[in-house]
Amino acid sequence: MSLALLQGPSLRERTTLRLGGTAMAEVVIGCARDCDALPQTLQRLGGTPLVLGYGSNILASDGELPFVVVNPAVMDAPKVVGEDASGVLVRVGAGFRLPRLLGWLCSSGLTGLEGLAGIPGTVGGAVAMNAGSYGCETGSRLVSATVFDVANGVRTLMRDALHFAYRHFSVKETDDVSASLSPVIILDATFRLEVGSRDCIHTVMQTNYAKKKATQPVTAYSAGCVFKNPTQEASAGKILDSLGFKGKRYGGMAFSEMHANFLINTGDGTSEEAKYLLSNAQEKVKKETGYSLELEVRII
Ligand code: EPU
Repeated sequence: MSLALLQGPSLRERTTLRLGGTAMAEVVIGCARDCDALPQTLQRLGGTPLVLGYGSNILASDGELPFVVVNPAVMDAPKVVGEDASGVLVRVGAGFRLPRLLGWLCSSGLTGLEGLAGIPGTVGGAVAMNAGSYGCETGSRLVSATVFDVANGVRTLMRDALHFAYRHFSVKETDDVSASLSPVIILDATFRLEVGSRDCIHTVMQTNYAKKKATQPVTAYSAGCVFKNPTQEASAGKILDSLGFKGKRYGGMAFSEMHANFLINTGDGTSEEAKYLLSNAQEKVKKETGYSLELEVRII
């Protein structure tokens, strides 16, 4: 394998919010060995590296953007790589889609990640933001991850070298280094699951997905929740709803009628309209409640 290179990828087509202009180029990593050529390729292309999986948590700006998309498309299917009294270890490529992983875990009778049903991203993206729902966080089951960064090359890091918090992942030793200078690219992840009943796993996944479908706009163009919850007890969606943001529209962008923490592109929205709505919401929430809502969606 070698690095595949695409010119001028459209971020509108590469993100679930369907917003954004054109990046300079896209570099596709098919396997860990491809990373050997990455530093030189990035240097030659110039621009800022932007690691992008399924693009389900990104609000991309309009116009020509100075980014080189780095796509960790390591598609290795899930595989059992170990088993002991405490569980079964499953390794999977970062580019593998999370819904497919959950389907595989269900048919393999492996329990532990059912709460993630209905999250659309890749495995790498879910680790990179410690995606979570219904009391389950991606990092809670992670045992190790193979990562690449320019300074250290490819290495497999055990969980104690990684830092997970609410919607946050980082490599501990690089916590104080700017991510844009040395992005950490996740290549694969190994999770510890337990053996369970297929029927139970299937039921829990179906129940979680049904709950999600009933309360969140799962088929709309969106990037999931746009703000982090300010505290464990306070839901950003509930606060925004109480302040009248549900359904609030500006141009082609709107806060969802179903869940006020989802920003929706109704089809012809622009990034400027999206940013206007986000800052308008932050200002009003600050003024009325004192909370400073932190973005969960990544604006680039
Ligand atoms: N609520 C409202 N109005 C709204 C939205 C919510 O009144 O517009 C109320 C609900 O009725 C409920 C409470 O607020 O009583 C909490 O709502 P919900 O269960 O939807 O949870 P959330 O805190 O709004 C979090 C995550 C979601 C995750 C759900 C389910 C964040 C920012 N959001 O939402 O994650 O799916 O819990 O576990 O942590 C995401 O990260 O992109 C995301 C969607």
